[in-house]
Amino acid sequence: MKNMDTSLMQAGKNRTSKAKTDQFYDDVISGLGSVPKHLHSKYFYDANGDKLFQDLMNCEEYYPTNCELEIFSEKAPEICRAIIGDRDAFDLIELGAGDATKSTYLMQYLLEQGADFTYLPIDISENVISCLNVTLPVTLPGLQINGLNGEYFDMLEKAASISNKRKVIMFLGSNIGNMAVPEAEIFCMELRNHLSAGDMLLIGFDLKKNPKTVLAAYNDKEGITKKFNLNLLERINRELNADFDLSQFDHYPIYDPETGACKSYLVSLTDQQVNINGTEAIHFVKDECIFMEISQKFTITQTDHIARHAGFKPLNHYFDSRRWFIDVIWAAE
Ligand code: AVI
Repeated sequence: MKNMDTSLMQAGKNRTSKAKTDQFYDDVISGLGSVPKHLHSKYFYDANGDKLFQDLMNCEEYYPTNCELEIFSEKAPEICRAIIGDRDAFDLIELGAGDATKSTYLMQYLLEQGADFTYLPIDISENVISCLNVTLPVTLPGLQINGLNGEYFDMLEKAASISNKRKVIMFLGSNIGNMAVPEAEIFCMELRNHLSAGDMLLIGFDLKKNPKTVLAAYNDKEGITKKFNLNLLERINRELNADFDLSQFDHYPIYDPETGACKSYLVSLTDQQVNINGTEAIHFVKDECIFMEISQKFTITQTDHIARHAGFKPLNHYFDSRRWFIDVIWAAE
């Protein structure tokens, strides 16, 4: 019986993993078949992409992580007081948890204050969730953790089905910037639809600043951002049996200070054909670009507007000392 349970579970797991690969394949074929060509940056984060993003966060030019770390190290008591409220139990959900370095600051403080919460990190990367489930209880003894691997809204529904406690969602690191503004607005409305009145959102936005500072963060001297982008082509080669020649693509970031949109592209250095899975042939002309990622920068007014438009009340604003980044607490109305 035990063996049968295990094999049924394995079959279920295989089906899920096949569905994920099918979705990845469909998205890649549709993105590369579009004009202009594009790929979805959510696919950057395989094990190697996670590692490259760690390197990026430590590189000199990439400021958002340090700004948010400064906010959390300086303002943890204030932020936690706002989150704890009347001291009732809550689920602390983190969307796109990554290595949870930033949220660890807050959770450390919450634990010291005896707050009654369960941490539910949600991440698209299976690798991230299995690491967190193992490492965090060691870093933060006494932490109750239940990692959820999957798409944000599917996992939020799962979280709601697991417990009916009040929800506090964290969406840090300006992950929201990886959506264009209209998409970010719809995303926040959708988040609001998954919450009840009084639930909270702690969300980080990278703010508009000197355009040279922004552009340098996405064009680091060491070339980590370039590798981070090229890694998606490598992932397509490996997982979808494709034959991208990485040496024939270059990284091209741009920043528009008027709109606040920072965009990354990969540029084809030659006329070329890429085969995917022996069934699809994608043609590139020399200098044709693949749009890879948007990293939107915001004004404070814009963040308040997004909150109200989506059915939240902006409660508190926390800045780093240079006012380059903001974490805000919104309450669902
Ligand atoms: C995860 N995200 C908020 C990062 C950003 O700044 O857009 C991803 C990244 N892309 C290039 N550098 C960092």
